[in-house]
Amino acid sequence: MRLDKFVCKSTSLTKPEALLRIHAGEVFVNGEVVTSEVAQVHEKNTILLDGQELKARPFRYILMNKPTDTICSNIDEAYPSLLNHLDLDNKSELHIAGRLDADTTGLVLITDDGRWSFDITRPETHCPKVYRVGLSRALSDSVANDIKLKFAQGIQLQGETALTLPATLEVITPTEVLLTITQGKFHQVKRMFAAVGNRVITLHREKIGEIHLDIPVGNWRYLTHDEVISLSKI
Ligand code: URA
Repeated sequence: MRLDKFVCKSTSLTKPEALLRIHAGEVFVNGEVVTSEVAQVHEKNTILLDGQELKARPFRYILMNKPTDTICSNIDEAYPSLLNHLDLDNKSELHIAGRLDADTTGLVLITDDGRWSFDITRPETHCPKVYRVGLSRALSDSVANDIKLKFAQGIQLQGETALTLPATLEVITPTEVLLTITQGKFHQVKRMFAAVGNRVITLHREKIGEIHLDIPVGNWRYLTHDEVISLSKI
């Protein structure tokens, strides 16, 4: 990790404050002054500030049940950030792995481990995600079967060159379905149903990989060690 990040992760300094201390020659790495914030350091280095050894705080892995009308951003914009629902220190270190639209609810993963979130969200990682979808038009059995087949074969979304990867549709009621996809294209679920002449009215993510949403809306909890590892293995 970069030296400035390490200093922030092991103290209560903000990034500008950490940069000032590094540039002033106050940070020692393995006995040598290091004044470049981009210097790479790791846990095994001995890093001192004011004669005190710095130890980075452990990474945090969080599951939240996102309420509607919140955004997956660290700052408030047209809607408030969902991080307002997290009562934790050093929230600026956290980022959201895999965004949902403002009007989508459900399972969101939040972390300060950039490598983990990169691994689980990169396009080559085909991690299954299950969405509960409310539709504007009721599906007859024959239409549902037709859509199941189309989604299983992959469909052409507007503006995309490749077909979507095979997706699974399970009908719960004529206007409520579970859709499992293994990609995360922009507005993918809404665009998939638009492509088959329907419209998504409500959208809720229930599951990512083996991680189930098991907390009420607006609440959060830390992931277990097994849950963290389970996603890295996909
Ligand atoms: N697909 C969408 O269309 N929106 C989301 O928020 C997530 C998946």
